[in-house]
Amino acid sequence: MKATETKINKVNHIAIAVKDINSAKKNWEQSLGCNVGKIKELPEHGVKVLFISFPNIKIELIEPLGNNSPIEKFLDKNPKGGIHHICLEVNDINKAKEKIVKHGTNILGDGSVKTGAHGKPVIFLNPSDFSGTLIELEEG
Ligand code: CO
Repeated sequence: MKATETKINKVNHIAIAVKDINSAKKNWEQSLGCNVGKIKELPEHGVKVLFISFPNIKIELIEPLGNNSPIEKFLDKNPKGGIHHICLEVNDINKAKEKIVKHGTNILGDGSVKTGAHGKPVIFLNPSDFSGTLIELEEG
């Protein structure tokens, strides 16, 4: 691999939007016996989050928090909840971004790298470019 290339290391997490994170937590924890973390409130991102850990991947449950949650619209369209985004882990987010822009794929928002809900640099890609699926890239 050339030094200028960027690499996707793995699927970091699959995020599921939920209406009630407490009852969702119970199902994953008690019915399935999964390794479920603690619910965290992230008011600056407008969500409550909870990670369910597996050896190679996490599932992230997200519930809207506050009035301007970025997942409110999604839950209006999907009242039972549903898969909200897939997060791919990249080794260098700025290089990944360069490549994406070069190929004409659209980055959401103003196109700049932001600090995501987990304190790492992220960008979100336009679902129209990925068959209706929201893709998050996270540096890790
Ligand atoms: Co995410």
